Amino acid sequence: MSFPIQRPRRLRRDASMRRLVRETELQANDLVLPLFVRAGTKKGHRKEIASMPGVFQLSPDEIERECAAAREDGVSSFIFFGLPTSKDAQGSEAWADDGAVQQALRASRRALGADATLIADVCLCEYTDHGHCGVLDDRGSHVTVKNDATLPLLAKAAVSLARAGADVIAPSDMMDGRVAAIRRALDEAALEETPILSYAVKYASGFYGPFRDAAESAPKKGDRSTYQMDPANAREAVKEARLDVEEGADMIMVKPALAYLDIIRRVREDVLVPVAAYNVSGEYAMVKAASARGWIDEARVSQEILVSIKRAGADVILTYFAREAAKRLA
Ligand code: PBG
Repeated sequence: MSFPIQRPRRLRRDASMRRLVRETELQANDLVLPLFVRAGTKKGHRKEIASMPGVFQLSPDEIERECAAAREDGVSSFIFFGLPTSKDAQGSEAWADDGAVQQALRASRRALGADATLIADVCLCEYTDHGHCGVLDDRGSHVTVKNDATLPLLAKAAVSLARAGADVIAPSDMMDGRVAAIRRALDEAALEETPILSYAVKYASGFYGPFRDAAESAPKKGDRSTYQMDPANAREAVKEARLDVEEGADMIMVKPALAYLDIIRRVREDVLVPVAAYNVSGEYAMVKAASARGWIDEARVSQEILVSIKRAGADVILTYFAREAAKRLA
């Protein structure tokens, strides 16, 4: 039975009809806004990232204002990345009581109160002088990261961040076994109620370029391909996701999002926990750059991207477009 009996255009006739039959609905509640906090600056510090127009490095007092403004727009979940005052081989400011993100958590809590979700990214690359996500293993021509030696450092950072008020701990380092190590450390610190959102499926991606300017976290030597995933692999994504769920991850993430919509779908169908997707810095920068030249309509394209990520199966979307998108949805 087909044309002229079947006429799919009947259900596209007007806006009300299209809304009635729409399959995917984006909600402000699904969105998480990433924020970058810089420690050790004067009050009022607000520096725009050249490759990410509209995204800033902020002092803790500016984080407080930014969170209040974002909440006005309808955003109630945030993830924080820190720029420390100094870096060392271990990344020890990652677990400092007055570390950048620890301060941001307290500041944002002042602005938002309890009815907000504050997520702390856990990684060492912003805090190490070499820019890698763990303890460096430099064998001259081969630079990598020591897996097991990194785990206790991540666990220390996680406990420190949860004590500073993080509602969710989100490890993004890609060490094997880190979810179990962090879960154990949180439980031993009587933080058994704090959930873990694991960046379980994180690819070694060129789309992180602008983020590394924002977080000043580019590796000095070598790259991350001995710990982040090969973009060519899909089965391995399912394996990583299952392992992290077994280790105790409460939610998992796929990252980047746009070039990996097939992965979001596969992971969504394989696990029972909520799946988040990170619409990363390079995905944001491409839209901003093209719209600045008048080549695309930013509002329309960013909305279409976010809907596509949700349609692929993401329950939660981390995006630098969160404020604009939430405003549109209000
Ligand atoms: C830290 C981390 C990165 C991102 C989130 N956490 C960068 C990286 O792995 O190099 C990227 C986020 C983005 O590009 O927006 N490990």
